Amino acid sequence: MENKQIAITQFGGPEVLSIQTSPVPKPQPGEVLVKVSFAGVNPIDVKTRAGLGWAAERNKDKLPWVPGYDVSGEVVEVSEGTRKFKAGDNVVGFIGFPLTGGGYSQYISVPESELSLIPEAVTLEAAAVLPLAGQTAVQALDTAQVVEGDRVLILAGAGGVGHLAVQVAVAAKAEVYTTCSESNLDYMATLGAHAINYQFAPVSERLEEVDVLIDLVGGDAALDAMKCLRDNARIVTVPTISAEMICEKAKMLGFQASGMMVEPDPEQLDTMLYMVSVGLLKTEIQKVYPMSDVAEAHKQIETGHTRGKVLLDMKC
Ligand SMILES: NC(=O)c1ccc[n+]([C@@H]2O[C@H](COP(=O)([O-])OP(=O)(O)OC[C@H]3O[C@@H](n4cnc5c(N)ncnc54)[C@H](OP(=O)(O)O)[C@@H]3O)[C@@H](O)[C@H]2O)c1
Repeated sequence: MENKQIAITQFGGPEVLSIQTSPVPKPQPGEVLVKVSFAGVNPIDVKTRAGLGWAAERNKDKLPWVPGYDVSGEVVEVSEGTRKFKAGDNVVGFIGFPLTGGGYSQYISVPESELSLIPEAVTLEAAAVLPLAGQTAVQALDTAQVVEGDRVLILAGAGGVGHLAVQVAVAAKAEVYTTCSESNLDYMATLGAHAINYQFAPVSERLEEVDVLIDLVGGDAALDAMKCLRDNARIVTVPTISAEMICEKAKMLGFQASGMMVEPDPEQLDTMLYMVSVGLLKTEIQKVYPMSDVAEAHKQIETGHTRGKVLLDMKC
């Protein structure tokens, strides 16, 4: 049995992603072997491949490196001491974060503590949407302490993190506003948000008295959105690259502001899987690419206009 993986042999454009073959790993005590069906593609994978950010800095001497933090698939072997899962279970996880990665693999051995059981009503595709993006959404809203009745502005509601953040905020009974391009206005409305076309005019000209800003864009868009906020508003800015600058400006204006780094939390993932299973959360997938088309999948993320998530089908 061979294990095809997608590796970065050097940093660069999408063409540096190549398929390598390695032995199927043997699960160590406490681990299970997962036959991966779908791997999620996240902006951090793309930035790391390009040699940008701290994951690239920390892995630069460890190339070839296999990216990927989101996997869904089937447990095919368990090791001594594992109790949670048995062969045949469908599982999903936010694995190897932040430095190890490894999700772009057909087989991966993972500590069972990093995995969640996928309920029968949830597809393997839908489950693979949730780990990194879903937990970022939930943790950003938690950090901002969003409560019922808050007027919450989410920048980039149509993206991987955004489409889940919008729905979780709506479920918490917040009044949710979100920015998107014209082509996503109807989609955002179907999720229960007031959609604002940022291409038509800056959001600061269209909205005021906002309690919470969840910034998934950073830079100038976040600075403009601060003009919509009421006194003492809370800001969570998620893109790490501009977080320091945005937090400094926000604090000068009297807002509470923080950046964040998502943390894997399988119990939080269990809750999201439950929400999907009962129809409270709808996952959106722009496209599933066969693993051999990984370069195209990265190019799609680089457009900056992905609706929902991009997945890799690791079975073909
Ligand atoms: N700190 C952390 O732990 C952490 C965790 C996860 C993600 N992140 C970062 O958070 C950001 C969002 O991640 P993601 O996975 O959601 O990215 P994504 O899926 O690639 O986001 C794409 C979305 O961004 C929207 N967009 C682009 N420019 C916009 C603008 N100026 N205003 C409003 N919407 C805009 C697009 O909507 P339209 O097509 O409608 O324009 C598209 O739907 C990325 O920078 C990512 O690296 C950080």
